[in-house]
Amino acid sequence: MMKEKIQEKFQTLFGEHGDIYASAGRINLIGEHTDYNGGYVFPGAIDCGIMAEIKVNGTEKVKAFALDKDEFVEFGLNEEDKPEQSWARYIFGVCREMIKRGGKVEGFNTVFAGDVPLGAGLSSSAALESTYAYALNEIFQNGIDKFDLAKIGQATEHNYCGVKCGIMDQFASVFGKAGSLIRLNCKTLEYKYFPFKPEGYRLVLIDSCVKHELASSAYNKRRESCENAAAAIRKNHPEVEFLSDAKRVWLDEVREEIPEEDFLRAEYVIGEVQRVLDVCDALERGDYETVGEMMYQTHFGLSRLYEVSCEELDFLNKLARKMDVTGSRVMGGGFGGCTINLVKDELYDSFINAAVGKFTEKFGHAPKIYNVVIADGARKL
Ligand code: GLA
Repeated sequence: MMKEKIQEKFQTLFGEHGDIYASAGRINLIGEHTDYNGGYVFPGAIDCGIMAEIKVNGTEKVKAFALDKDEFVEFGLNEEDKPEQSWARYIFGVCREMIKRGGKVEGFNTVFAGDVPLGAGLSSSAALESTYAYALNEIFQNGIDKFDLAKIGQATEHNYCGVKCGIMDQFASVFGKAGSLIRLNCKTLEYKYFPFKPEGYRLVLIDSCVKHELASSAYNKRRESCENAAAAIRKNHPEVEFLSDAKRVWLDEVREEIPEEDFLRAEYVIGEVQRVLDVCDALERGDYETVGEMMYQTHFGLSRLYEVSCEELDFLNKLARKMDVTGSRVMGGGFGGCTINLVKDELYDSFINAAVGKFTEKFGHAPKIYNVVIADGARKL
């Protein structure tokens, strides 16, 4: 459906056809705000994402149409050509970052659309970046490897969108594989696919449909706190390159030297790095009860120590706990968006009904429910 609409528009606008590429949004089972701290994450690509038709146009300009916004933008490929529209900046940023890495990018025509819910913490922006990074790399035969394609997306966020994000979203979007989660060491970029088929359980997202303002500056501030804490610890323990290298007792040593806020942020991160490893062990044993318990601990940390949850998400988490749902936590950067829930099959209907009913009653709008399907990442169709 989405593909046909894209092709129809492309034909109308440009009178021809190009190649079609797609990439995916992501979930993350556990390992939140650990990526920019050199820790582990455990994401997977999902079955919704961005799709784009692209064809070289023989000019110096990119002519781009965003189907969902019904908006056309034309921009050049030099640094001063940065477009106004935020969606176009992602495409522009990817082009620029590819050029900066010695890649060739020339003018092209493109139409794109997406079905990743916006503001839900499912990384629609990473899906957009990796669609174009993957596509332009192929189209212009740049031979850039997949790690660098992910880094091109990340650098786009840093340099053109003002978010100092880690590598998780773009990595998941580029490397995603149907049916598997990926455990990624964000320091070394070593990764391992874990087939994820929790017999008897379902993974479901509940989208609070709230997105708080200033999320990106609050995100950058969290990152700064972590870097401050790591710098303080490094004075005593020079081997600490990233906060994830620090032991909990080393953090305690600098408690008096750093602001309380930075201490709490670091306390969360150090705990979370360990939880990802514990979850991997538990998964290998098929022990989903432990996986779920770790998810609750992550929620507690994200809410009380890292302070990126909100009333709506805490409400959903509390309800899950009360109903004996196996695991539940806020997912992604936070400040709104979804909870991710590991729910036993037999509890699924009653939990979802209660969550929708009680949430709507309290907040005056219904949450949205997404059943997670782990799918492939960046690809040509
Ligand atoms: C956002 C960022 C990621 C990661 C998560 C939190 O999605 O883009 O790099 O830091 O938040 O885990």
